[in-house]
Amino acid sequence: MAVQTNPFHRIFDKIGHTPLIPLKKVGSRGMKLYAKLEWANPFGSVKDRPAWWMIQEGERQGILKKGESIIIEPTSGNTGVALAGMCQALGYKAEMVVPKRVSSETKGIMKAMGVKMLETDDDLCPRVGPGTDQAIALAEAIVKGNPKKYCMPNQYKNEANFQAHYETTGPELWEETEGKITHFITGIGTGGTITGVSSYLKEKNPAIKVTAVQPQKDHHLQGLRNIEESQMPDVLKRRVEVIDDWRTISDEDAFNTLAEAGRMENLFLGPSSGATLRAALDLSDNVKDGVGIVIFGDSGHKYWSVYNQFNVFTKDEFDKLKVGARYNAEPLFLENKIPPNK
Ligand SMILES: Cc1ncc(COP(=O)(O)O)c(C=O)c1O
Repeated sequence: MAVQTNPFHRIFDKIGHTPLIPLKKVGSRGMKLYAKLEWANPFGSVKDRPAWWMIQEGERQGILKKGESIIIEPTSGNTGVALAGMCQALGYKAEMVVPKRVSSETKGIMKAMGVKMLETDDDLCPRVGPGTDQAIALAEAIVKGNPKKYCMPNQYKNEANFQAHYETTGPELWEETEGKITHFITGIGTGGTITGVSSYLKEKNPAIKVTAVQPQKDHHLQGLRNIEESQMPDVLKRRVEVIDDWRTISDEDAFNTLAEAGRMENLFLGPSSGATLRAALDLSDNVKDGVGIVIFGDSGHKYWSVYNQFNVFTKDEFDKLKVGARYNAEPLFLENKIPPNK
C-alpha cells in the first residue's frame, strides 16, 4: 500500500466514520438509542462532510481555483469553522458572514484561522428568503461585486451538501447498524444531513421513520433553524418529503437534556445535540421496539459563553467534561494543529 506523506490529505481522510455509541443511561426507555458523534470529525462537527464535498465540487467545476479564489460563506458557525480549517490547509483565503449571536468562541476560532469576519443581525442561523436573509444577501452581494475572485459554496443551495451525507453518513449508519436502524433523528439547519441520510436509508428500507428537530423561535441552539422564522433552504425543500415527523424543542429543554447527558452519560454535547437528544428520548418513549439513531452535531467545547449565560453548567462542571468526557475528540482548531498554508 502506498504510504501517504501529504499531511493535508491525511486531514481530509479523517472526515467521516465517526463513532456510533449506545446511549444506555439516558436512553433506556423504549427503543434502543444510539448516537452518531459528529464532533469526532477533524474540525469538530457534522459540517466537515459537506464543507469538504463543496470544496471538492467547486474545484472539479473549476469555479474554485487554488492561489486565486477567496471562499466566502454565510454560516452560523460550524460550516465556517470547517471551511476555514480546510482553506488554511489548502491555501485558500476565507471570509465568513456570521450572525452576531454566534458564540464568541466560534468566532474566535475562525479569526484564529485567518478568516475575515463580517457580522449581520440575522437570528442565530442565517435566514433564508428575500428581505430577511442578511448574511446570505451580504455574501451574495460581495460575490456579485467580484465574481472572478469570490466563490460562495452556499450550503443552503449546494447539492454537494446533500451528496456528502447521501454518500457517507447514510451508508455509515446502514452498515454500522447492519440494516437494523428503524428511526433517524436529526436537527435542521440547511437540511443537508436530514435529506442526505434519509434519502439513502429510505432507499434501503422505506419503513425507516425520520424525525426532524427544529428549535423554538428566537432560539440559542447554534446550527439549527426554526423554519417558521425563515424560509426553507433549497437543500431541504428539494427532498422535504423524507421527513415523517417534526418536533420543536425549546432552549430550556435542550439545555436541560444536554446537562443530563453530561451527568448521566459523561458526554459533552453541543446545544443542538441537547435538542436532538430530547426529541429522540421523547420519541423512544412511544416506540416499543426499534433502533433509533440520533445525530450529535458538535460537542460543547466552544459553548462556555452560552452555557454560562443559561446556567447549563458551572465552570467546574464544564471544565471536567472538557477534559474527561467520554469520546472527547480534540478538534484540530483547539490544538492549533492545522498545517500552515501551502
Ligand atoms: C451543530 C449542528 N448540528 C446540526 C446542524 C444541522 O445540519 P444541516 O445543516 O445539515 O441541516 C448544524 C448545521 O450547521 C450544526 O452546526
